[in-house]
Amino acid sequence: DPDTATDAVRSVDDISTIAVLGAGNMGHGIAEVAALAGFEVFLRDIDDDLVRAGYDRIEWSLGKLAEKDRISDDEADAALDRVTPVVDLAAAVGDADVVVEVVPERMEVKKDVYAEVEAHAPDRALFVTNTSSLSITELGRETDRPERFCGMHFFNPPVRMRLVEVISGADSTEETLSTVEALAERLGKTPVRVHKDSPGFVVNRVLVPLLNEAAWAVHDGEATVAEVDSTTKYGLGLPMGSFELADQVGIDVALHVLEYMHDQLGDAYEPCPLLAEKVAAGDLGTKSGAGFYDYESRGAEIPT
Ligand code: 3HC
Repeated sequence: DPDTATDAVRSVDDISTIAVLGAGNMGHGIAEVAALAGFEVFLRDIDDDLVRAGYDRIEWSLGKLAEKDRISDDEADAALDRVTPVVDLAAAVGDADVVVEVVPERMEVKKDVYAEVEAHAPDRALFVTNTSSLSITELGRETDRPERFCGMHFFNPPVRMRLVEVISGADSTEETLSTVEALAERLGKTPVRVHKDSPGFVVNRVLVPLLNEAAWAVHDGEATVAEVDSTTKYGLGLPMGSFELADQVGIDVALHVLEYMHDQLGDAYEPCPLLAEKVAAGDLGTKSGAGFYDYESRGAEIPT
C-alpha cells in the first residue's frame, strides 16, 4: 500500500531516479530535462525503434544546447550518460522514485500502462502524468495511489520552456503537490499550481482557442497561414506564429484538447475543420515532417 510505505517519497530530497514512460515529442524532452538536472533517468517506450528515436532526439538536443553555449560539452555528455533507454517496463519503473507518464492521450492506453506500472513500481514512488487533455482525477483513480498522483504538464520544447503546470486531481494530497512543485524547481522550471482539474487546465485553455481561431480565420478566407502568423508574431509579440506553434505542439494534440474542451465547455470551442483535415492527411506538424508548413523541404534538422 503506497500510503503506508515507510520509505515513501515525501519530499524532493527523496527523489533520485525518474522513469519517463513514452519517448515521443514530450517524453524525450522531459527525460532530457531530468537528466540535465542530475537525476538518473529511464526512458521507456514500447519498442526499440521508438526508444532509440527518443534517445537520438535527446542527443541531438543536447548537442544543440552545447553548440549554443547553453551548456558545456561535458554537461551534455554527462546528461546523456544518465539516460538509460529501455523497452521493458518492469526494468524502467523498478527503482523509480517518480514515474512520469507521457504515453498517447487515450484513456485505454493510459489505463493499461497504469495497471502494468502498479505491478512493477515501488510503493514509495510518486506518479505524475503529462496529459494535456484528460482528467487528472479520472487518471489518478486508475492507479492504486490517487493521493500520490497529480498532473505535471510540461511545454514543448521542455528543455527550453520554463513553465510546468502542477495540476491537482480531486484526490492529490498537499504533500504530493508540493513535492512535485519542488521537483519542477529542481528541474530549473517555474511551477504554477492549477487548483482545479478542468479541461485544458490553464495554458491550453488559453492557447488552443487561439490556434483554433487562427485556423478559422484562414478557413473563412480572411488571411493566409503566413499572414495570420505575421499577426501573431508582430502584433501579439509571441515567439512563434499560431500555425508554427500548432505544428510544434502537434496538430493532433491541439485538436484532441479542443475536442475535449468543445465537449465539456460548449460551442465556442468548435474545432475548425482545417485541423481535422491536417490530422487525417497525417500532417501532424514538425514531428511528422509537415503540418501547416513543410519541414522536410525546409531541411529541418529536428529528428523525428
Ligand atoms: N533542443 C535544443 N534546441 C532546440 C530544440 C530542442 N528541443 N528545439 C529547437 N531548438 C533549436 C532550433 O533548432 C534552433 O537552432 P538553430 O538556430 O541552429 O536553427 C534554436 O533552437 C532556436 O532557438 P533560439 O533560442 O535561437 O530561438 P528562440 O529564441 O526562438 O527560441 C523557442 C526557440 C524557445 C522554441 C521559442 O521559439 C518559443 O518559445 N516558442 C514557443 C513555444 C511554445 O509556446 N511552446 C508551448 C506550446 S504549448 C504545449 O506544449 C502544451 C501542450 O499540452 C499542447
